[in-house]
Amino acid sequence: MTVLPYKEQEASKKEQVAQMFNNISHKYDFLNHLLSGGIDILWRKKAIKLLKAAQPKTILDIATGTGDFAIEALALKPEKIVGVDISEGMLNVGKEKIKKLGVDNIIDMQLGDSERLLFEDNTFDAVIVSFGVRNFENLEKGLTDMCRVLKPGGTCIVLEFSKPKSFPFKQIYNFYFKYILPTIGNMVSKDSSAYTYLPESVQAFPDGEDFLKVYHKAGFTQTQCLPLTFGISTIYIGKK
Ligand SMILES: C[S@@+](CC[C@H](N)C(=O)[O-])C[C@H]1O[C@@H](n2cnc3c(N)ncnc32)[C@H](O)[C@@H]1O
Repeated sequence: MTVLPYKEQEASKKEQVAQMFNNISHKYDFLNHLLSGGIDILWRKKAIKLLKAAQPKTILDIATGTGDFAIEALALKPEKIVGVDISEGMLNVGKEKIKKLGVDNIIDMQLGDSERLLFEDNTFDAVIVSFGVRNFENLEKGLTDMCRVLKPGGTCIVLEFSKPKSFPFKQIYNFYFKYILPTIGNMVSKDSSAYTYLPESVQAFPDGEDFLKVYHKAGFTQTQCLPLTFGISTIYIGKK
């Protein structure tokens, strides 16, 4: 079943997701770091380090949002990073950030949909996405188009929430994610649905081996998953 941010609306998931991220864009970074205790920063760093050996010169950051993953990817010293997102609000916050950092000559942020990427086949050395794929309207279609624009031999890195499986972490996490996180998130963001959608969408999302099946179907090979912090998040690595 598709999990929607605003259940009472008839708009598509894609429209609702874009609307939700537009609504919370100005509070997104603050809440991200607050609600994760800053660990999201370490997860992004770890994911980017996996690309170090490949030394990609051109990187596509899907669902770039406010640009944190793209900014982290600067550590790889690429020539160009293109970030695409369906939320204009998130992109505007991101554009301000990269301008302030003086890296707007390297990072280019564009409005774009993961399921209909406006790039030629085999364009990028690496394609990356953090906390984006869970929000896709059609996961397989999004991953397939990501694979299409990746060069043969290129690497794809997906970082996404997953579900911890072992006691007592699973129970502690479920309590935090179901009760504490939505209360703080909805209060601070002033969007009564965004941080209720977060745990619901994680719950419904295929993680671990289930994600790898879709990843593989989308065209990626040598797929692997790397669970982080008791399985709260997972990095999925794939090659083309
Ligand atoms: C949780 S944010 C992640 C932002 C950023 N990658 C990060 O790590 O902070 C998810 C982003 O995915 C974007 N998104 C959702 N579906 C998308 C799609 N089909 N194409 C491009 N972006 C999408 C949303 O607009 C939102 O900005």
